[in-house]
Amino acid sequence: MSQDLFEAARAAMQHSHSPYSKFKVGAALRDENGRIHAGCNIENVAFPEGICAEATAIAHLIMAGRRHITEAAVIAERLPLVAPCGGCRQKLSEFASPQTRVWLCDDAGPQKAFTLAELLPAAFGTDSLA
Ligand code: THU
Repeated sequence: MSQDLFEAARAAMQHSHSPYSKFKVGAALRDENGRIHAGCNIENVAFPEGICAEATAIAHLIMAGRRHITEAAVIAERLPLVAPCGGCRQKLSEFASPQTRVWLCDDAGPQKAFTLAELLPAAFGTDSLA
């Protein structure tokens, strides 16, 4: 994974609004043109209304007119490595392929990669609606 994706996730994490969990998360997604879209978690006093870093990054990707995630990176401040939650795995799968790599990062850089198929086996995909 190239350093720029990791650095974008780490920089996004600094924007985290997480006064309730105090758990800052950053995510970065590379699109089919190589551009990076990043996001942080944004919590709300009405707890279920918060959104994850991956969802913020996806919103940026979509608003930039892109539709395909070719690579992803996730980082959290308080855990050595954080894996995307179940809901985010499903959200990522909407715009990524089963082979898309999701990098789990710590402050030193990317440490471990999973494919989306490893994170979300037997996914509910668009073919399920056919
Ligand atoms: N969080 C994310 O942003 N992404 C994940 O994949 C895991 C959880 C956030 C949600 C909440 O703001 C905080 O981490 C604690 O759960």
